[in-house]
Amino acid sequence: VRKAPSALSALGRRTEPPPISWLMHLTLSRPRLISLAAGFIDNESLPVRETRLLVRELLRSRPGAQAALQYGTTQGDPSLRRLTCAYLRDLDGAAQANAAYAADRMIITNGSQQLLYMLTEALCDPGDIVLVEDPSYFVFLGIVQSRGLRARGIKIDNHGVDLADLERVLTSLKAKGALHRLKFVYLVSYFQNPTGITTSFDRKAGTLRLLRKYEKAAGHPIYLLEDAAYRELGFSTKDVKSSLAVRAGSDCVIYAGTFSKPFATGIRVGFGILPGPVFNSVLGIKGNHDFGTSNFLQHLLARALESGAYRKHLRQLHETYALKAKIMARAIRESFPAEVEWEPARGGLYIWARLPRGMHSGRDSRLFKRALAENVLYVPGELCYADDPARRKPNHEMRLSFGTGSGPEITEGILRLGRTLRALV
Ligand SMILES: Cc1ncc(COP(=O)(O)O)c(C=O)c1O
Repeated sequence: VRKAPSALSALGRRTEPPPISWLMHLTLSRPRLISLAAGFIDNESLPVRETRLLVRELLRSRPGAQAALQYGTTQGDPSLRRLTCAYLRDLDGAAQANAAYAADRMIITNGSQQLLYMLTEALCDPGDIVLVEDPSYFVFLGIVQSRGLRARGIKIDNHGVDLADLERVLTSLKAKGALHRLKFVYLVSYFQNPTGITTSFDRKAGTLRLLRKYEKAAGHPIYLLEDAAYRELGFSTKDVKSSLAVRAGSDCVIYAGTFSKPFATGIRVGFGILPGPVFNSVLGIKGNHDFGTSNFLQHLLARALESGAYRKHLRQLHETYALKAKIMARAIRESFPAEVEWEPARGGLYIWARLPRGMHSGRDSRLFKRALAENVLYVPGELCYADDPARRKPNHEMRLSFGTGSGPEITEGILRLGRTLRALV
């Protein structure tokens, strides 16, 4: 059959429908479905009262309201940048004068998702290589696919990226003469999506050391893109320092953060701290995308940070999520077959479960279909693996989210899933 001529660009033709679309479609088309798949945050703890107050304050004075209701700059509101940088510096325990946290290195974006996309535009041409954790954030893998990039998976363990495996991949790229195509390593460093693992500070420093070692052979810097989307969702107050705190490392670090998960996904404001050449390019690209993130929402967030409402909200969130994670863990312990391997969550929104090998969890598997028939949805683990020709994608894992569901829904969802698993083990 002759194909109809298409006016689509190479990217337009190449882009596959993102898995998030059919996961959302399934959720919306089945009202009785319990979704343990969605990466949504908890509805009940959304900052409704706080936001109402902030909006009222924002509109109280006419000049203040006018400033917020006008276009802002491409880079983002100076107050929000100053406050966010001070907040990050504080989290990292860095000195006030530390240039790694300077507000003029920060760009405010439409969610951190926009930053991730623009970074691939600023740094990568089709055929270029990025290194990702194996497994990684599946929406980022969608960008990689759409933009025609090549991804290589790096093994991870309970402390994050496996440095020996990273070096093995770097050596192999060098031996193949492909190192000049490698642009960055992407790490979801806190309570990782999908596994819940947090990368230790030593591993971040080790990664930067290795990237430095190979940059001469690459002929350009190889950046570490640290995606800290879940940083503030830890259940304890213990925080791991970001890679910006690695001494003499920050000129190779791109730090991506967001107010989505810790405050409100509906506000959808993110930010990045970027080294000079990348900063200039991303700022130019953002100018073409939208010449600035919603000014009103930026003013609102600046107020939330300045008034202390933001930190107060975070403290409440920790209790909510710690409880929901506990409910999910208890349900798994009671309902899942003993052969399933998993770890209780210490933060974030996810538990990663490994089924016995040979028990498939993919979209076409018996398990997935039976779970759907039981009206319960999970994210098949295989979606979280890059298309890396060096290995077969594992297909016996699942990502379970305790973000959206209520306690009883989480328990019921896990019970149904446990029943399905037991029938198949
Ligand atoms: C690891 C990770 N990074 C980035 C994002 C994007 O979040 P946002 O664009 O809302 O900041 C998400 C959302 O789920 C995520 O899980």
